[in-house]
Amino acid sequence: MNLKVDDFLDKLDFPLFIVTAAAGDKRSGCLVGFVSQCSIDPARLLVCISEKNHTHEVAKMSAALAVHLIPKERTDLVDLFGSHTGYDIDKFSRCEWSAGPDGAPLLAGCPSRVVGRVIDAQPVGDHTAFLVEAVEASAGKEPIYMFSMALKERVEPGQPP
Ligand SMILES: Cc1cc2nc3c(=O)[nH]c(=O)nc-3n(C[C@H](O)[C@H](O)[C@H](O)COP(=O)(O)O)c2cc1C
Repeated sequence: MNLKVDDFLDKLDFPLFIVTAAAGDKRSGCLVGFVSQCSIDPARLLVCISEKNHTHEVAKMSAALAVHLIPKERTDLVDLFGSHTGYDIDKFSRCEWSAGPDGAPLLAGCPSRVVGRVIDAQPVGDHTAFLVEAVEASAGKEPIYMFSMALKERVEPGQPP
């Protein structure tokens, strides 16, 4: 990778999300920075998941993804979903969740979230871009979300990039 691109990106900061997916009895989820709104009406998001992640394996088979904002006190969820891999542990036995639309796991600790039906998935490099259209959304009372890409200095990814 061109080091100047890294230098450029290091000047930026982006919010972090936890993205979850389910297919049959398989569930997965990870910390994701590569999320962007890409359409207003219809309301659509692009969610990019690394091909190396366990979440990718499950998301490829999922009808919907849940995209959660992370309340600032939930460092435990940042660590669970960002520093561990579903290839080693069952993250969902370590947190509270319930099944949402199309079975997408909804994290009780992250009340602000959008569930989006997957309408396309395209390889975009070492990640796959999932285009999702919102089918359900809720906004909790938390005023602000503190977790951002700057966390990469502190959180070691569960799956090396
Ligand atoms: C700051 C930060 C940002 C991350 N952004 C992404 C991302 O945009 N897409 C992605 O697939 N993984 C991203 N990761 C990595 C995964 O969250 C991490 O490797 C996770 O442990 C993978 O879990 P899994 O194998 O269970 O899916 C990020 C990690 C950190 C620490």
